[in-house]
Amino acid sequence: MAIRIEDQNLLFHLQTDHTSYIFHVMENGELGQVYYGKRVHAKPSYDNLTTKEWHNAAAVWRQDHKDVQPQVLKQEYASLGKGDFRYPAYQVTQENGSRITEFKYESYKLVDGKQRLAGLPSSFDDNDDDAQTLTIALRDKLLGLVLHLNYTIFPHQDVIIRSAEFQNQGDEKLTLNAAASAQLDLPDSDYDFIQFSGAWARERHMIRTHLRSGVQSISSLRGTSSHQQNPFVMLARPNTDDANGSVFGFNLVYSGNFADQVQVDQYDASRMLVGINPEEFAWNLKPGEKFQTPEAVLSYTDQGMNQLSQQMGTFYQDHLVNQKFAHVERPTLINNWEATFMDFDEDKLLSFATTAKKLGLEMFVLDDGWFGHRNNDDSSLGDWFVNEPKFPSGFDTFANKIHELGLKFGLWFEPEMISIDSELYKAHPDWLINAPGRHASPERQQFVLDMTRPEVVDYLFDAMSKIIDLTKLDYIKWDMNRNITETYSSQLSAADQLEMPHRYILGVYQLYDRLVKAYPNVLFESCSSGGGRFDLGMMYYAPQAWTSDDTDAVERMLIQFGTSYGYPQAMMGAHVSAVPNDQVGRITSLKTRANVAYFGDFGYELDITKMSAEEQQQVKDQVAFYKAHRKLFQFGKFYRIDNPFENGGNVMSWEVVSDDKQHAIAGRYQILNRPNIGYLRLYVEGLDPDTKYTVNGGSEEFYGDELMNAGLFVSDILHETRGTDKSADFNSNLFVIDAVK
Ligand code: GLA
Repeated sequence: MAIRIEDQNLLFHLQTDHTSYIFHVMENGELGQVYYGKRVHAKPSYDNLTTKEWHNAAAVWRQDHKDVQPQVLKQEYASLGKGDFRYPAYQVTQENGSRITEFKYESYKLVDGKQRLAGLPSSFDDNDDDAQTLTIALRDKLLGLVLHLNYTIFPHQDVIIRSAEFQNQGDEKLTLNAAASAQLDLPDSDYDFIQFSGAWARERHMIRTHLRSGVQSISSLRGTSSHQQNPFVMLARPNTDDANGSVFGFNLVYSGNFADQVQVDQYDASRMLVGINPEEFAWNLKPGEKFQTPEAVLSYTDQGMNQLSQQMGTFYQDHLVNQKFAHVERPTLINNWEATFMDFDEDKLLSFATTAKKLGLEMFVLDDGWFGHRNNDDSSLGDWFVNEPKFPSGFDTFANKIHELGLKFGLWFEPEMISIDSELYKAHPDWLINAPGRHASPERQQFVLDMTRPEVVDYLFDAMSKIIDLTKLDYIKWDMNRNITETYSSQLSAADQLEMPHRYILGVYQLYDRLVKAYPNVLFESCSSGGGRFDLGMMYYAPQAWTSDDTDAVERMLIQFGTSYGYPQAMMGAHVSAVPNDQVGRITSLKTRANVAYFGDFGYELDITKMSAEEQQQVKDQVAFYKAHRKLFQFGKFYRIDNPFENGGNVMSWEVVSDDKQHAIAGRYQILNRPNIGYLRLYVEGLDPDTKYTVNGGSEEFYGDELMNAGLFVSDILHETRGTDKSADFNSNLFVIDAVK
């Protein structure tokens, strides 16, 4: 499999193990999309697919080429204003105000491998996994503007990476008003648009809508990828589900304002655009300057959405996430946040850590409130030095005590923020983002630092480095608890203000990059009031993310199930917290809370010192169970079985299966119990049909084909709870499936 180029016809066929992506140079010198989908044979040309017929009421390219009508063509990276009329992939404004461009094909370059992008998180092929990169150079002669469209194939994960780079080789200043990372023109619109939407504490709920004429889009203007919309979307044929059917996946390696948009045109063709949100964006390109878009990830399968998630997830782990951690089992942890909030002292924390160690946990994470004079959320963000009254014997002494217990030590930071009540604000009030003459809008009593300023990035790098060195830190939870308002940088000229949202994120990436390079052994977990920046840009630096501030088991089922479409389970921080739950007040059993949290990077976030001996024993057993199956939980192939976003949502089940199919664990969760129900079965997936398995250590043996096709009997929970004080609601069961040796 490879990138095949038909030099004579200027046809480019990007072939992965199971997909083909084909485009060519059209008569007008622009690039035309030919096909993306299941792999087809390579041929010198696909005349049938590029046939043109003259349409009435459509502008033509030239009088002598009447059948070249931009609005009918399927294009690779469309312009505005030359007769296409759909939303364009990019837009450029000249000094004289003209917004018309005409890029013509010039040349191509094909190389093995994949280089990282400078200054942006991006994919790579460090382990020689047969990636190939094709760059197509196009030029607008009038402007002297060169456009590079970059395509990398990762053949074994069936992933194609796209990005664009604009180079101003002319002699006037140009402004980019839009610059998508990828465009895909599909010939029909019989697709469902599947998005992952929500709010704080309710992230990534699945919404599925059939495409219709006009534009359907999701986007963010918050300065982050956002809780409200995730950049991952799918286009699926209506009959596609987790196990079967044809589906495209799109994601963006970016953490700022983005837009994913599908436009269904008058001919029922669908144009997908993925990239930086063109709203609140403009980039000035002086002669000699370049602009590189973030990378878009495209993938396709005809084997259902489980397969799509698995192939994209494998790709992220192998070619996007920091390789130092990507395949390494993540530590179990205790985090003090929901147990103490900011009300703690050294003794309380040490008794926490001592108990955590006794129960088998591996890392102690000290959350918000350890710095400056922070005891509530009014103050101290930016003052990344220790809160001395809370640690009278010194922060290094405290950290040593944690390490001496045999635990790793982790700390919470919120680097991008500033409180008015802080030493940092006293010294640098102008570092706070605000627009001239306006008052800055607080959120959670806090404000945002201007990450476009190199001195801010330097300050944060130095302040954080000091703490990392002092405490010999093993882990950082990097939070970002508000969105950006009054977006303006005093460092930028009036004409450059629309560069601010992107430059902000570039500053964040720069700080991450410097810290990851300086401290390669520190594991980063990204967070943004839970899952407000759960995106691939962050994942490049931080191999895991706090999935949501909502730790209620029932809410988490939906959140983790939705998240699993776009991100593998090793990326999802998942903790057991106290009941009644802090976010929804619901009471669920310790068993169900753990049964949900096992399918991620497991930990606890409650006062374990206050638990009864019986509960502590239960925690100890849960930790031991998780550690015994950690590799499977974090890195096993993930299958969604019963979708809680469908069929009334009362039941959810999912499963992880080892690569060698010798082990699997399925979880089945029922929200409310129902009276007098019929017999239930769970149909597991991904096993070897010819291998015999046991379930939960029982003596009965089952062939894989039996478990997958005939299913497994699931007992009515009332048989367990009747006559006890246990509720039959919010019940869950795990099925540990092992091949018979
Ligand atoms: C955010 C995070 C929480 C916690 C608090 C601390 O809300 O998502 O997990 O760290 O901040 O202020």
